[in-house]
Amino acid sequence: MEIPEVDSLTQSILAEAAAAADLAALEALRIRAIGRNGLLPKLMAELKTATDKRAMGQALNRFKTSVTEALAARKAELEAGAKAARAGAFDLSLPGQWGGRGKLHPITQLIDRTAAIFRRMGFTVADGPDIETEHYNFDALNTPADHAARDSQDTFYLPGGWLLRTQTSAVQARWMEAHKPPVRIVCPGRCYRRDTTDATHSANFHQIEGLYVDKKVSLADLKSDMDHFARELMGGNVRSRFRAHFFPFTEPSVEVDFSCHMCGGKGCRVCKGSGWIEIMGAGMVDPNVFAAAGYEPDSVTGYAFGMGIERLAMILFGIDDIRRLYENDARYLAQF
Ligand code: DAH
Repeated sequence: MEIPEVDSLTQSILAEAAAAADLAALEALRIRAIGRNGLLPKLMAELKTATDKRAMGQALNRFKTSVTEALAARKAELEAGAKAARAGAFDLSLPGQWGGRGKLHPITQLIDRTAAIFRRMGFTVADGPDIETEHYNFDALNTPADHAARDSQDTFYLPGGWLLRTQTSAVQARWMEAHKPPVRIVCPGRCYRRDTTDATHSANFHQIEGLYVDKKVSLADLKSDMDHFARELMGGNVRSRFRAHFFPFTEPSVEVDFSCHMCGGKGCRVCKGSGWIEIMGAGMVDPNVFAAAGYEPDSVTGYAFGMGIERLAMILFGIDDIRRLYENDARYLAQF
């Protein structure tokens, strides 16, 4: 065999090695090319009779090293491919793993439950922005310029006359401006106050606001609707009661208590022995609020109320620290 033939034989074996489909084919090629009875020993035997022994010896060396290298490289490639294929393979006979079912956060649950009760009573769910103007958060709600709630110690003010709403009541004026009476809305959402966080306070919390405006809405409507809401939310025996209070946007204003759902009003740890639990603020919409929203104060009346969702969740689920609601420990939250 001449040197150019040896070199072209080398090239064709390199090509075969690169194309070997699996490890078995590669091993067959190795035996054929450099095995004990393969091509290389035969060519070595011919070396003795070669015309240019030195050049032929070099050609055979090229054959040996390049073929050996090519075989090793293709072997590594095939082995890596087999490993990747094993890793990606499914064993369809293995039992599945149940990842557990998610749950709604207690705050979301309470918003949904509360909104659903009022929807059944004919209320629409309304929405408003978290970033508000002083107008909707305070002025339109008949809040005097020197009212304590406006203090920058209590309210987060933003540049440009904006603030983070301190109460969902801000939605009242917005909604009335855009809709003619009658109005029946509830508005759940986030509120912000400069409170230092402790077991019962958080700078960011949730409220749900209610507003009912029509021709002859009375305090008696508020009372019967609150009784209905109390029964629907807490259970069949729970009643409401009013205590006189003050809010700038309502006149008269009340605080609404529910009789304790745990002891039925006898007095227990949950209601601190009083038989009643404070649930929300409410009252008859102040004529100034109607006027600010563009309603005719003499032709409509209405009631409004607002309650804290975290407070409701803590009462209903027996949660002792508001911070537990924000730590998002799924093990803790999963129980509600
Ligand atoms: N906005 C009040 C608060 O944050 C709650 C409230 C009281 C809302 C009376 C009302 C209302 O709509 O009529 O404490």
